[in-house]
This record gives sequence, C-alpha cells and structure tokens, in this order.
Amino acid sequence: MHREIKDNIYWTGAIDWKAREFHGYQTRFGTTYNSYVIKDEKNALIDTVKEGFESQLLERLEHAGIDDLDYIIVNHIEMDHAGSLEKVLEEYPDVQIVTNKRAKKGLVDAYGMDVEDVKIVETGDELTLGEKTLTFLKTTMVHWPDSMVTYAVEDNVLFSNDAFGLHFASKKRFDDEFDDQEMGKIFNEAAKYYANIVLPYGRQVQGVLDQVEELGLEFDIIAPSHGIIWRENIPEILERYDAWSSNEDQEKVIILYDSMWHHTEEAAFTIAKGVEEKDVDYRVYNLSDSDWTEIMAEVMISKGLIVGSPTLNGEIYPAVAGFLTYMKGLNPVDKITAAFGSYGWSGEAVGKITDIFEELDYEIVDTHKWIFDADQEELSSLKTLGENVAEEVIDSD
Ligand code: FEO
Repeated sequence: MHREIKDNIYWTGAIDWKAREFHGYQTRFGTTYNSYVIKDEKNALIDTVKEGFESQLLERLEHAGIDDLDYIIVNHIEMDHAGSLEKVLEEYPDVQIVTNKRAKKGLVDAYGMDVEDVKIVETGDELTLGEKTLTFLKTTMVHWPDSMVTYAVEDNVLFSNDAFGLHFASKKRFDDEFDDQEMGKIFNEAAKYYANIVLPYGRQVQGVLDQVEELGLEFDIIAPSHGIIWRENIPEILERYDAWSSNEDQEKVIILYDSMWHHTEEAAFTIAKGVEEKDVDYRVYNLSDSDWTEIMAEVMISKGLIVGSPTLNGEIYPAVAGFLTYMKGLNPVDKITAAFGSYGWSGEAVGKITDIFEELDYEIVDTHKWIFDADQEELSSLKTLGENVAEEVIDSD
C-alpha cells in the first residue's frame, strides 16, 4: 500500500526484503527504495526505484489515485533510484523529468536516455505544482556528483535522497512507529550507512548542513530514499550527521587482524590486554569472518586503530589487504594507529600496512613483527603496543 506522509504527499516506494549485499555493503536487514508522489494540480514523483521493483512503485501510484504524472524529479541517477526510470516513462510518456545539469549528463551516460526535454534546476529554483511548491538544493558529492535534494516548501518536507538514509526493510515507515529498542538498531544502521556510503564526503556534508541553516529550512519530515522516514528524531539524526561529518570520535580502539596459524590472532588478544590495562574501550575483529560494514561504523567513531596481518608471499594477508583497500576509499581521518604481524621468513606485511596508514596521514604509534609464535618477550612488547596506542588515544582527548 501507498502511505500518506503529509497532506497529499505519499510514499510510493519499494521494499526489498531480500537485499543482503549492496556493492560490498552487507545489508542484513534488507532495504527500501523510497519514492514519493505529490498530488496537486500537477503531480510530481520524487525519484523512482531500483530496476525490477517498478511494479511496486506503479501499484502504489495506482492505489494513491495517481492517473497521470506531470514531473519526475530525479534527485540522483544511481541505479537504485533511477534504474526503473525508463520503465516508469513507458507508463507515463508525457511526464517531464526535472533534475540538475550533472544528472542530465548522467542519464545519458548511464542509461543512454533521450534528455532533450529535461528541465534543469539549480539550487534555489522553484517548481510550482498548484498549492505546493518544490525547491531544490544541489548536494554535490553527497554522495555522487549529480546528487541533489528536493524540499516541499509549504509542507516542510525534505526529500533527502541518500542522505539520512539507512538500509532497513520494514512495513513501518516512520521513526515514531518503532519502540526504543528498535530505534537503537535504526540509529546503528544509520551510522553504518554513513560510514560505508557518505564518510568520504564529510566536508561536503558540513557544507550542506551550513546551507540548510543559511536558507532557514525547517523540517517537519526528512524523507530519505532508503529505510525509514524521520519525523520524531529529526534533531537527533541531524546532530549525528554533524558529529560524523566533523569526525568526532570516541576513546575507543579497534583491533583488526587475520591469521594463518593463530600467531597473529594470539597477538591481537595480547594487544587487547594492553588496551584494557589502560581502561580504554576496545573491540577485536577477525577480518575474514566479520561484517566489514559493521567494522567501518566502528572505525569511523573510534580514535584508535590497530591492524595485524601475517605475511603471505611478501604481501598483506588477503582479508586484511581487502579491508584496508575498502577502508582507504572511505577515508576515515585522524586515527592513532599501530601495526603488527607474525611472519615465517620475510615479514613485509607490517611495513605495507604502515605505508597505507602513512598515505591516510595517520599517527603511527608503534609497530611489531616477529617470527612464527611470539615468545614471552614478544608478547610483552605486543601488550606494550596496546598500552601505547591506548595512552595516545587518552592523551588526544
Ligand atoms: Fe541509494 Fe547513491 O544510491
């Protein structure tokens, strides 16, 4: 069923209960592709849904009594929002697409679409539908070059596209329909979403938040393109975006490793003892059997990062190398770090990990590598490594 979110504004999106992976992102609770329609003298659809889910969108439009569409606002051309655009156009051939210049180019590049009649909007432009007015705000690189958001002026509804979204499939649409326990899960999913999708663009997020303040926009509803619609917890989600995008982190250390014969694993737990000795919070993850998406949310909010790897054929062990590549792209900043690892005959992995830390401009507090099983002296050094990182984390406050 469609769902009214404000007077004559309806959610008409699609629920994807089965989604478990989203270009490397583990979506264990599924997701939604949110689309919205505004009913007025002229009807406007805000974004479509992922290809293959258009039947849900079209059914909900029908249930909402939408016989005709005048505009489709394309806030973002990525395939989970514009992938079914051409199929929706087949149903509503006379509709006009409204988007920004960069997205218009994207519609050609990604879908080979004919864009001759596309209406281009810039930040601050208005589109009158009848009683309702829409205005637009380009949010370049939050998180794609074409990204923008749409604001329903009279209703104070922000259609924020990917911003403020989360991957969470649910029958419930609004945050205030969930109890406190469920809201804990939802904020956790929002943090994971930010850490794995938006994190590289913190400066741009700060710019958008400043612009929202300058324009004096007020929000009764923030309606993103994934997951739940914010109605009761708007100050909280705005506050969290401000904290995440300004790289506020906690006095916490994340210890990540993989191991061939448990030597590097034993070291990880010995390092953890050192961190614990200093009474600093920490978590330990084996990268080969843990959810990287969850780990990224932990790395984002933690000041300390310790990474361990054995050396395999002169390289970092595959799971560790893969995670560091993933993390490097997301570019969490200002970490206090150390690297460690067991080796059999050469031991290049630790140096290669610190090379990555240097590229990311991290403070490297300590490194330690040793041959095969760590003896008591090595274990003592590893515990000290944990203590050293924890002390630096405490001092950085
Ligand atoms: Fe939800 Fe950038 O797509």
